[in-house]
Amino acid sequence: MKKLFKNIKELIQTRETSIPYVSGSEMNILPTLKNAFLVVEDGLISDFGSMENVPNDLAGEVVDCEGKMILPSWCDSHTHLVYAGNREGEFVDRINGLSYEEIANKGGGILNSASKLQQTSEEDLYNQSCKRLEEIIKLGTGAIEIKSGYGLSKEAEIKMLRVIKKLRDNYPVPVKATFLGAHALPKTHKNASTYIDYLINDVLPEISKNGLADYIDIFCEKGYFDIVDTEKLLKAGKQYGLIPKIHVNQFNAIGGVEVGVNNNALSVDHLEVLTEEDVMWLKGSGTMPVALPGCSFFLSIPYTPARKLIDSGLPLALATDFNPGSAPSGNMNFVISAACIKMNMTPEEAINAATINGAYAMGLENDVGSITKGKKANLIVTKPISSYDYIPYSFGSNLIDKVFLNGIEQ
Ligand code: NIG
Ligand code: FE
Repeated sequence: MKKLFKNIKELIQTRETSIPYVSGSEMNILPTLKNAFLVVEDGLISDFGSMENVPNDLAGEVVDCEGKMILPSWCDSHTHLVYAGNREGEFVDRINGLSYEEIANKGGGILNSASKLQQTSEEDLYNQSCKRLEEIIKLGTGAIEIKSGYGLSKEAEIKMLRVIKKLRDNYPVPVKATFLGAHALPKTHKNASTYIDYLINDVLPEISKNGLADYIDIFCEKGYFDIVDTEKLLKAGKQYGLIPKIHVNQFNAIGGVEVGVNNNALSVDHLEVLTEEDVMWLKGSGTMPVALPGCSFFLSIPYTPARKLIDSGLPLALATDFNPGSAPSGNMNFVISAACIKMNMTPEEAINAATINGAYAMGLENDVGSITKGKKANLIVTKPISSYDYIPYSFGSNLIDKVFLNGIEQ
């Protein structure tokens, strides 16, 4: 079955051949085609070009896009979308003066979400997660990574990963799963090192046996897990075929970037704090730095220094960090606006970071992230807009007219 999108005012992120990612000054180049057409066949992009060359013998559905633009769907490479309940009480505590750290120290934070999740049935957890996934699909997300990490016991971590697998099986969006057992130290363990041993010896083999995760993550941060824990867990994960994608430098730079790069991490995420050494380690590596401006906005912490990374020649991806504690929003449109407004990224850089570079940060660069023949027809059709700069400019507005996944309207 073919579908023709015609009269597209501007077709954005057109790449003749698949590229892994863009970095440095290339990030400021966003290839587009004005007055374009696009053909979808069997869920994949089969052709695109200028309206002058539109095929006129095409049998199938026609979508007239007069005045509208088409982009590849957003690629959200860092989320914790599977969680139980919310933490708006802590949000109010923060408004009243407590810090994220103080809230965590008095039993709130990740441990609060973990106890809620442990008491929630798998079915209820799945239903809560479906609602969030459906919401963000409508907001233009067409590929997503989801982490465990609110279970903190073998049983509850596996429950989370099973829910992630069920989302993958039941929704048309590509889903990657990350095992984040080392998200915080649960009360069942006295110290981080015995907990890491438990994850390695008791939990990892079970996850691997059931094929429940693609990636392994750890919160490498003062008060959570140090670089010795990080090194040990990543090495063990790799033995089970899990590639590292880690939380580093959110509040403190403690050497996690170096450990990530040396263990061939696919991405290092957060980086609100960044040292010269971190930049040096990232250069020449295949590790994608990932910024999460929704978290900086929500917690009022510094934004990842995008200019420093990009001006050093590095790539950068943008993701939501959708989670109940530090970024309770999965809206990639907001993330793109925040990246331009608060991190001084250009619209071209932000769109590249949220599409092709995001796809790379979850190993999906051959499937999504650009308008390229053979890639999935996961597309955003905008409302009539004056230019693509209008997307980050009009923060908070919903400019999406239609969303297509595998060429099918959602
Ligand atoms: O990526 N930093 C660690 N984990 C999450 C927040 C977790 C929470 O507060 O529930 C993050 O920001
Ligand atoms: Fe996170």
